[in-house]
Amino acid sequence: MPIQLAAITPEIGAEVTGVELARPLDAATVDALRAALLEHLVLLFREQPMTPEQQIALARAFGEIQRPPVKTHHGDNPDLNVLDQTSPRGEGADSWHADHTYTARPAMGSILRAVRVPPVGGDTLFASMYAAYDALSEPMQRMLCGLTAEHDITRSATRGIRAGHLETDLRAIQQRLPPVTHPVVRTHPETGRKALFVNRNSTVRICELAEAESAALLHLLFDHVHLPEFQVRWRWAEDSVAFLDNRCTQHYAVADYAERRILHRVTIAGDAPF
Ligand code: SIN
Repeated sequence: MPIQLAAITPEIGAEVTGVELARPLDAATVDALRAALLEHLVLLFREQPMTPEQQIALARAFGEIQRPPVKTHHGDNPDLNVLDQTSPRGEGADSWHADHTYTARPAMGSILRAVRVPPVGGDTLFASMYAAYDALSEPMQRMLCGLTAEHDITRSATRGIRAGHLETDLRAIQQRLPPVTHPVVRTHPETGRKALFVNRNSTVRICELAEAESAALLHLLFDHVHLPEFQVRWRWAEDSVAFLDNRCTQHYAVADYAERRILHRVTIAGDAPF
């Protein structure tokens, strides 16, 4: 049976049925899911029980695995990150971000699976950075297209260490992952569309601007991505899955719960943004 897609908003998010992700996918299904991802930016699935090994195999169907650049304390499979939280406020995922932009080749995408969810709360928001870019005025778009920005792991690593999720040696993390520079607006390598590519967790300055100008512009752009018109909100249940295109989206984990929430994340390697 071919997969079925139901768009959730005009800009981002489709719920997908008619596929069992735990089984090896044939080439036609992989192609159909890849095309759906390019169109809807985040694919959302219900009732997809799978083992960590099956989740890793699923991600491999779409590219090479990118191991977490900074390992959390949880879990022992190097290809899979266990996100295990009970007091998530201020821990980092509750701030709009794309994954691994502090690396030279940020992730192409991530596959998240809910293993345990609180009875209420703990939703994840996903936002289209195409929509965020498209909504800017033309003069602003023109200016941003000529700029680059520095991304640094320090802010998010400090939060992760404080929360007890990460290895504790900040200096070692900084030495392994020095700041990198990316375009402020990237071109998606498969669709050719432009996407805003700065985020509150990792982007620290716009290289070509004076400090005060950079701070003011980043503040404006970080606030701009919050608009509900760019977003979809996903209510997790056990064995729900989200497959996000990290090149043109940001996400935000709502920190409104106080019971244990466990997600497994496998990340697919990406290219250097241009
Ligand atoms: C993440 O930031 O990758 C985690 C998202 C979530 O916990 O919902």
